[in-house]
Amino acid sequence: MASGMDSATLVLGAAGFIGSHLTDRLLASGERVIGVDNLSRGTRKNIEHLTGNQRFEFYEADLANREALPGILAKMPVRTVWHMAANSDIPAGIADPNVDLRDTFQTTFHALGAMRTAGVLRIAFASSSAVYGAHEQILTEDTGPLFPISNYGAMKLASEAIISAAAESFLERAWIFRFPNVIGPRATHGIIYDLLRKLQITDNELEVLGDGSQQKPYLHVSELVDAMMLICAKSDARLNCYNIGPADEGTTVRKIAETVLQHTSPGTPIRYTGGRRGWVGDVPRFRYSIEKLRALGWSPRMSSQAAVELAVEEIHREFYPETVGV
Ligand SMILES: NC(=O)c1ccc[n+]([C@@H]2O[C@H](COP(=O)([O-])OP(=O)(O)OC[C@H]3O[C@@H](n4cnc5c(N)ncnc54)[C@H](O)[C@@H]3O)[C@@H](O)[C@H]2O)c1
Repeated sequence: MASGMDSATLVLGAAGFIGSHLTDRLLASGERVIGVDNLSRGTRKNIEHLTGNQRFEFYEADLANREALPGILAKMPVRTVWHMAANSDIPAGIADPNVDLRDTFQTTFHALGAMRTAGVLRIAFASSSAVYGAHEQILTEDTGPLFPISNYGAMKLASEAIISAAAESFLERAWIFRFPNVIGPRATHGIIYDLLRKLQITDNELEVLGDGSQQKPYLHVSELVDAMMLICAKSDARLNCYNIGPADEGTTVRKIAETVLQHTSPGTPIRYTGGRRGWVGDVPRFRYSIEKLRALGWSPRMSSQAAVELAVEEIHREFYPETVGV
């Protein structure tokens, strides 16, 4: 297998929130990167700063289509596929399960098929805490049984399962990362993005889904990318599965809404829609163990709330670039 500048790293979902940050990091470490995205949720804006970069190529293609990847993989030897493409809108997948079948599962299924044919033997996969479903205990990588409560979680779990099977049949290395809620600039969705969007439309009150008591761990995207890189560098079993998250038990939706308002329009009343879950498929509270990741030598720097405060500032600046420097 070729390496270095003779080969490339493929990022699926490169125009998305996390995929674009990952692409930046891979390029910064000297790699040649081929990005693929159908721009259904990601945007060209997320990768426009890479225009003219000789080590980056971008292809707009639908990865749920079996024909998409083989032609791209034929262009240059690829050493590792980073699969960050998926439906990232959980309620959309509940309204129409086809969304997750296509964008969350079929993208994985066809990526593995194309990799097998092209002899690409390494995959790094963005999975999610959603595979765990609603568990009360602290979630470790071997918590089970796994009964997801959203189609998104179900299709992530199915993706993990076929990656495991591929690890048995042809892959040399597979890394499965179970992300918590990830936040930061270039967000295409997520609570902070949604709250700022709502305030853009109407600023006389802020509607918040649920009763505000939902409590989850939040990780800044910069730390997530650090952790993924470290896991790939240090864990060399054929199949490696890691939770990635902050060290604390998270912050509440109420605290996030208050942080957003402090930053944008203090004094605006919050209207909670009520109920413990924000929406069908929402896991209102989960606690993550990152002991396995810590054992590799990684520790998060930011608490969930510190990550929220930073991300609110960053996303707000993107919404209102004219306020920079004011
Ligand atoms: N952001 C989070 O909090 C979070 C949490 C857990 C897991 N994840 C996972 O991390 C990965 C990245 O998520 P994100 O937050 O950056 O979301 P995102 O929507 O910004 O990125 C996903 C990208 O995949 C692309 N995509 C979707 N379907 C595609 C298809 N059929 N063909 C080609 N491209 C397609 C989208 O256009 C988008 O650019 C996803 O797999 C997501 O499930 C994210």
